[in-house]
Amino acid sequence: MTTNAQPRTQWLGRWGFILAATGSAVGLGNIWKFPYITGEFGGGAFVLVYLACILAVGVPVMMTEIALGRRGRGSPVDALRRVIAESGRGSAWSLLGWMAMLCGFLILSFYVVVAGWSFSYLWKMLSGGLTGSSVDEMAAIFGANNASPLNLGFWSTLVTVATMVIVGKGVQAGIEKSVSWMMPGMVLMLLLLIGYGVFSGGFPAAVDFLFSFDAGRLSSEGMLAALGHAFFTLSLASGAILTYGSYLPATTSIARTTLSVALADTVVALMAGLAIFPVIFANGMSPSSGPGLIFMSLPLAFQAIPMGTLFGILFFVMLSMAALTSSISMVEATVSWLTDNKGISRRTASWGTGIVLWLVSTLAMLSFNVGADWTLAGKHFFDWLDYLTSRWMMPLGGLGMVMLAGFVLKSESFREELGLSPGWHALWLFMVRYVSPLGILMIFVDALGITRV
Ligand code: PHE
Ligand code: NA
Repeated sequence: MTTNAQPRTQWLGRWGFILAATGSAVGLGNIWKFPYITGEFGGGAFVLVYLACILAVGVPVMMTEIALGRRGRGSPVDALRRVIAESGRGSAWSLLGWMAMLCGFLILSFYVVVAGWSFSYLWKMLSGGLTGSSVDEMAAIFGANNASPLNLGFWSTLVTVATMVIVGKGVQAGIEKSVSWMMPGMVLMLLLLIGYGVFSGGFPAAVDFLFSFDAGRLSSEGMLAALGHAFFTLSLASGAILTYGSYLPATTSIARTTLSVALADTVVALMAGLAIFPVIFANGMSPSSGPGLIFMSLPLAFQAIPMGTLFGILFFVMLSMAALTSSISMVEATVSWLTDNKGISRRTASWGTGIVLWLVSTLAMLSFNVGADWTLAGKHFFDWLDYLTSRWMMPLGGLGMVMLAGFVLKSESFREELGLSPGWHALWLFMVRYVSPLGILMIFVDALGITRV
């Protein structure tokens, strides 16, 4: 690996890592998924369990990943290889790096399809194509949007190209520069949308729904969904955070940075709920309408209220930006690995990755139309990608990394990277050794169907 002789690129500005990592974390998971799973699993009680999962599993795992990335100064594959070698341990652990890199890539293959929905809905909003007058009619519009492979393929291709263009420009000129205006823009739009929600009449109902704790509504299924979502929403075990961490200056506090990113991600998820549910409740709709919540119920609700179209446009611009700042983080690991190891330019690496990604995502996109029947064990390709990554690869990768950090690697490496006081370090170690692994094992028990009697 001669190419690694030069020092690794670092974030340019003080806020570089925080903005990029928050951009990665805040995405469709916060705005599309969190509100609808909260709706499905009953509101406040689910929110509370979710917060506990972020603190007990998400934060320790994220700290571990950033520390591994900065210590190893490379893509997941290279960084892990180096820290493992530093501790003189077996190379079987390096598989973790490959799995993380592959996981980010596979997530992106279906993520671009959902991001494509967002871009196409923005276009529909702008061009007046969202004129259904009932949930059924909106569902028909959603169905028609999916039914044509050319249409759906156009939008997912657009997302793929935009992602690769940004990543191709580099860590500083591409990723850091784009997040430094998209993130503030997103927050501003979200605030405007919440302001709108306050005046829509449904705000008290939304607050009540999100924050009133009713233990009777807690289900074991909801708890596992909360845990799985904690991984996805914080971009863990998919190479994104680890690779971004490899560009982190040596003096930055990993604990403080992690807490900021996790807090920002959580606040945005709750804010998304406070922007979406008031409009839903003001129109007497159900909060539990599933994945179609923001593509069917919400556009319908926007139509019924004054200035709805304007705020609808704002909503889909915000959603599209949130998706892009996440999608770029999913391929950065692969692009960084290619440029470091294959002696090719970042440009070439991005286009190469983009082409393979396009092929896989096209297969995923076809699940909604011509490939709807191409199923295996009842799941089509899109569902398989989602299932394999969120149910298996992310938890398995997370488990591997905390075990590596807690039991295998030299504890000195983490003491140095994390730089915590002895008390906080002991707490982190306790979390990665016992609390996070136990939580993660619960996901597997569920995935294996052991809990289903
Ligand atoms: N965290 C992103 C979201 O909530 C998704 C993501 C997963 C991004 C994995 C990067 C890596 O939408
Ligand atoms: Na998120």
